[in-house]
Amino acid sequence: MGKKRIMVVFGTRPEAIKMAPVVAALKASEAFVPVVVASAQHREMMDQVLSTFHIVPDYDLDIMKVGQTLADVTARVLSRLTEVLEDGKPDMVLVHGDTTTSFAAALAAFYMQIPVGHVEAGLRTWEKYSPFPEELNRQLVDSLASLYFAPTELSAENLRRENHPDAAIFVTGNTAIDALHLTMAGGAVSEFASLDKRTIVLTMHRRENWGDPMRHVFRAINRLLSEFPDVEVIFPIHKNPLVRALADEELLPSPRLKRIEPLDVRDFHQLMMASTFVMADSGGIQEEAPSLGKPVLVLRETTERPEGVSAGTLKLVGTAENAVYEAARELLVNADAYAQMAQAKNPYGDGTASAQILLALSAYFARQK
Ligand code: UD1
Ligand code: UDP
Repeated sequence: MGKKRIMVVFGTRPEAIKMAPVVAALKASEAFVPVVVASAQHREMMDQVLSTFHIVPDYDLDIMKVGQTLADVTARVLSRLTEVLEDGKPDMVLVHGDTTTSFAAALAAFYMQIPVGHVEAGLRTWEKYSPFPEELNRQLVDSLASLYFAPTELSAENLRRENHPDAAIFVTGNTAIDALHLTMAGGAVSEFASLDKRTIVLTMHRRENWGDPMRHVFRAINRLLSEFPDVEVIFPIHKNPLVRALADEELLPSPRLKRIEPLDVRDFHQLMMASTFVMADSGGIQEEAPSLGKPVLVLRETTERPEGVSAGTLKLVGTAENAVYEAARELLVNADAYAQMAQAKNPYGDGTASAQILLALSAYFARQK
């Protein structure tokens, strides 16, 4: 059997981080050749990740436009990827998670009857608009896919509930943990956190939090900074201009509020490790924090990652100003409450997800012979 060509498509920061270990594993294998396609739904934030993991895409669709709509992203990925599929002739296309790049790429592959493998399959809130549009993107990709790499038994069970065939579902752990092993290999010293302060790391970007929810969280941050003089907030702010405008309007200036550009993933993981706790609406951070033993106040009403909540590391606090303020205050004043959340747990696997995905791919192609 000649080497199988596996096209790996991604476009945003989190997909690039979580697909980087898969690309590395494919590159190192005897059986497969990776063909990397970057949609560049995110330009700068994806490029940061490519540079950290030394990935040079075989194709770069360069689709990002400032203020792009979901329809823009879908249409551009669908049409440009179709040309790339014709040119690259992959035996399989791998997509990741829940972005619009992943959905449009899976659809393009399906139209050409090329099998799709879904990495990080089966996450669900079962609420159509939360997270929006990610919940539906995930369900749609799972309808289009032929192979499912579920991070946990719970996500595999979600797929079985939707009648996806058991033989096509593999519980592999999350490749986020594979990536974390790579970034933390050099130790954990952060140049960003102050040694004489307690550091809260803040990130926010989700569509359902644009507007009032984000404003309310920022007001809670203002209150925390004025009440706790030994606390600093480090906010590596997403490139989205809408998020930046809201931050400009609501966040009060303070020498202990450090609003910085998005960090390289290695620096970000080290900053999380050096922090007291994290406040975020991010998906990926909910997977990384349990392994690092860092409490996360999740600034969302729902989560498709209940494993970290069960492990005790994550608390779903929503976005109401008082609820966010009180939850953060509790972690700052109550050592027992803090200690209960700050325990390293590992619901997302042992960092071998990429290796397990390759085994499943080998078994799939062996069956096709
Ligand atoms: C996307 C994903 C979301 C994921 C998030 C990770 C979809 C629908 N959403 O949301 O699931 O959690 O990425 O961050 O796929 N921008 C830049 N430079 C960059 C990146 C973004 O300027 O490097 C700006 C652009 O103006 C862009 C805007 O941010 O229009 C929003 O980016 P977009 O990819 O549309 O959505 P996200 O909210 O980032
Ligand atoms: N991250 C990063 N730099 C930052 C903030 C986050 O590298 O300044 C990483 C983080 O560790 C996680 C991923 O980016 O792996 C999360 O991305 P994001 O929050 O944009 O998307 P989501 O995970 O919500 O889809």
